[in-house]
Amino acid sequence: MTEFKNKQWIYTKRPEKLVDDSHYTLNESTINTAQLRPGQAIIHSEFFSVDPYMRIQQSSKDTWEEPHPLNTIQGGAVVGKIIAINDIQSDLNEGDWVLSYTGWQEYAIADISSLRKLDPREVPVTTALGVLGMPARIAYFGLIEAGKPKQGETVVVSGASGAVGQVVAQIAKIKGCKVVGIAGSDEKTKYLRETLNLDAVINYKKHSSALAMKNVLSRVCPEGIDIYYDNVGGYITDAIFEVINLRARIIICGQISQYSGGLDDPELGPRFLHKMLYKRATIQGVLARDYNDRMDEMLKEMTPWVKDESLKYKETIVHGFENLPKALNMLFFGKNTGKLIVKR
Ligand SMILES: NC(=O)c1ccc[n+]([C@@H]2O[C@H](COP(=O)([O-])OP(=O)(O)OC[C@H]3O[C@@H](n4cnc5c(N)ncnc54)[C@H](OP(=O)(O)O)[C@@H]3O)[C@@H](O)[C@H]2O)c1
Repeated sequence: MTEFKNKQWIYTKRPEKLVDDSHYTLNESTINTAQLRPGQAIIHSEFFSVDPYMRIQQSSKDTWEEPHPLNTIQGGAVVGKIIAINDIQSDLNEGDWVLSYTGWQEYAIADISSLRKLDPREVPVTTALGVLGMPARIAYFGLIEAGKPKQGETVVVSGASGAVGQVVAQIAKIKGCKVVGIAGSDEKTKYLRETLNLDAVINYKKHSSALAMKNVLSRVCPEGIDIYYDNVGGYITDAIFEVINLRARIIICGQISQYSGGLDDPELGPRFLHKMLYKRATIQGVLARDYNDRMDEMLKEMTPWVKDESLKYKETIVHGFENLPKALNMLFFGKNTGKLIVKR
């Protein structure tokens, strides 16, 4: 029997506004190979996903599922290595990289059937958390199936430099659309313009009201907006209704501007839904888990794009397991570009 000293971040207190260290407790325990049942493996976590949905699930009310229970390990996707395995039939072996949903703990026991094997010779393993992971899945299916982009249409993406947004924007370019990216700093808009080759960019912090956003959107989208892929909500989204075209598609992927306290007590708005009527437009919410069983379909099309760099990506890596709660908080201050990941 081999024993490992384990550390786990336990979610212990519901935040009312921003989430930080005070909502978590660091727990130390042990884990050993004798605990493995047939069909299970021990994973040594290396890269932890930090996602905005974690803050939504800390709400006291149900969302797409029940709130994250208190006094349990913070759930989340992890990339790690198998260090022990109790299965002679599996094609997984010790030393293999896998994607698991084992949360914020250094070592975890997982059912082998729940693991996705990763090949580091093909693409970097961290891509399984971002550009070839859950954020990409909702970017891909949300844009293509809900948005139905057509060549020449104008697509506006908010949160455009983030994990989901950078993928949406580039798929829209690949599909021949004119793409406008909205993000929160000049450095981010420079990345969108110069590296991702978007057609136009907006730093929303320089247009800090619905009216100012409407004015700049009207200027950069003289032919109107056909698709709006919404990651942020708030006044940015309010402004969109003023500039949409006939049969525009508005895709609600996220509303991060509302997560830290605004979900159950939101700002007023939108008040421009009459424009939806005039334009016979649609609003559709999209959820990554609805496409779980279509992951292979997405990977088949997207992996070659990532490998030949027709789809580029950034990741922000924070070092240190102890920094996980701080990293979650960073999402709400725009401190990441691309997928935010914590390396153990
Ligand atoms: N529907 C689904 O299944 C699904 C799946 C994954 C993600 N999502 C949603 O998609 C959105 C993006 O997620 P992600 O993982 O790609 O995160 P992300 O965009 O990589 O990171 C969050 C970004 O949101 C921006 N932001 C934070 N507060 C804001 C505010 N008040 N107003 C405007 N922008 C703000 C920040 O960028 P700036 O510097 O630009 O402000 C920050 O970097 C989130 O709303 C998330 O909940 C939904």
